[in-house]
Amino acid sequence: MKPLIEKVQKLSLAAKHSTCQKSFLNNTVRDIDCQSMVQKMTNITPEMLGVTSREDPYHFAGPLNRVTIDCNEQDYRLVLFFIKKGTRMPLHDHPNMAVFFRLVFGELNYVSYDKLDDKFKYNDFADDEYAEMLDVGKRIKAKKSKPMSIKEGSMLYVRPSVQNMHEFVAQENSCFFDICLPNYTPVSHERRITYFKETGANELNTARGGTTELEYYTTPPVLPTNFSVNELEYRGALM
Ligand SMILES: [Fe+2]
Repeated sequence: MKPLIEKVQKLSLAAKHSTCQKSFLNNTVRDIDCQSMVQKMTNITPEMLGVTSREDPYHFAGPLNRVTIDCNEQDYRLVLFFIKKGTRMPLHDHPNMAVFFRLVFGELNYVSYDKLDDKFKYNDFADDEYAEMLDVGKRIKAKKSKPMSIKEGSMLYVRPSVQNMHEFVAQENSCFFDICLPNYTPVSHERRITYFKETGANELNTARGGTTELEYYTTPPVLPTNFSVNELEYRGALM
């Protein structure tokens, strides 16, 4: 685990010192250190993460369980999620961030979205405007992917400008890595998570993807109705 953490830290510093963070994060997949980080993620097994089985009662105690392996406030976050079969991860964004996601085991049904207007895509508004948008349930246009199935070992690359938002439902008990560069932060609304409701779903865009409409719903500490995250201690290897 230590070599992976060191790669995350190195990438985080490179992102911080890049002249344009947005373009650095949009292009990280081409970066040699990023490829090496992904390779290290790929080599990690459930056993190394301290997972005893796919029914492991510790890691699947609640519908959605989060283990923080390493985190540096605003700079990066390396976490594991354990999501029980049948649980929905509600639609949320990752504004101005890159996220490296690897499904360690299980299967997820997944749909990704991108906001169409740059102002909303990059959270380019003031704090009080954001509060107002949540208050009135502001509706915006977004592009939606066709429904996909993520199988064991699959990677997802969330970037500031591409595949930035998603929703998924666990088809099996599933475990995935989530490495965020930089981390979400309540300090700046530019990197605050928002949960959305899809108000523009229809038969066509649900089957094939296309333009839809999303409504600003909520941001922590208020989580979507019937949704909570159970925090767990890491039980895997650190070295
Ligand atoms: Fe996410």
